[in-house]
Amino acid sequence: MTDRWRALPDLGFGLGLRRQHFDEIFDRRAQVDFLEILTENFMAFGGRPRDVLRRAAAEFPLVLHGTALSIGSVDPLREDYVEAIAALVDEIRPRWFSDHLCFSSAFGVDYHDLVPLPFTEEAVEHVAARVRQLQARVDCPFLLENPSYYVRYAGAEMSEAEFLRAVVERADCGLLLDVNNVYVNARNHGYDARAFIDAVPHERVVQIHLAGHRDLGHVIIDTHGAAICDEVYDLYAHTIARTGPVATLLEWDHDVPPLDRLLEENARIRETAARARS
Ligand SMILES: [Fe+2]
Repeated sequence: MTDRWRALPDLGFGLGLRRQHFDEIFDRRAQVDFLEILTENFMAFGGRPRDVLRRAAAEFPLVLHGTALSIGSVDPLREDYVEAIAALVDEIRPRWFSDHLCFSSAFGVDYHDLVPLPFTEEAVEHVAARVRQLQARVDCPFLLENPSYYVRYAGAEMSEAEFLRAVVERADCGLLLDVNNVYVNARNHGYDARAFIDAVPHERVVQIHLAGHRDLGHVIIDTHGAAICDEVYDLYAHTIARTGPVATLLEWDHDVPPLDRLLEENARIRETAARARS
């Protein structure tokens, strides 16, 4: 059933909706194709954020992106959280919603961190079943994102790319391919980033994330707090040449610069994608 994922629209080049730009973003509608909404930032808020969210839903195509689903956890899916997503989906009608292929809680304790899963058949089956359960509850296409990670477990039965493919195919969900995370993980764990991109199911890639990181030499930290480096731009071009046009979002979550700086970075993303396609 991969046609369903191919059929989702290429939304163009988007930005995250950030409090710092609540006023200005609406004046720059012509330069921002879509907005990504951080699920947890809006699910429990009324007042001004809610008003801005409603206006954003009326004026931009929206996508939802979460960090607290904990899809890989051994705890049952949190009913209240899933219900809150479903309510938000109902209210703002995003084109899709996404979260990370990881866990962030276990035995009732929240880690506030994205912890990777072991690349095993058992984990594939566990996550895929939970994604199917989620998709039955929330009436909106769901995408899983490849996270950045700094530890690896012994006993891997497959590579990370094989694991990612197995989960999204078994779950029948879409893929949010974070190209910066591929670069960061490839450098930190010593694999070929381009071979990884070649191995993921391109027909399921519905959205791409690009971001900046901090290169400490012996390790790279995925900070979302800097400009995108040239190597990640090259890897993005390599990706677009294989997937075709895909909605691409600049993630800049820390030390958020003025909107003009984000638009400048987005213009470079746009040019890179156009060059890769031609
Ligand atoms: Fe991301």
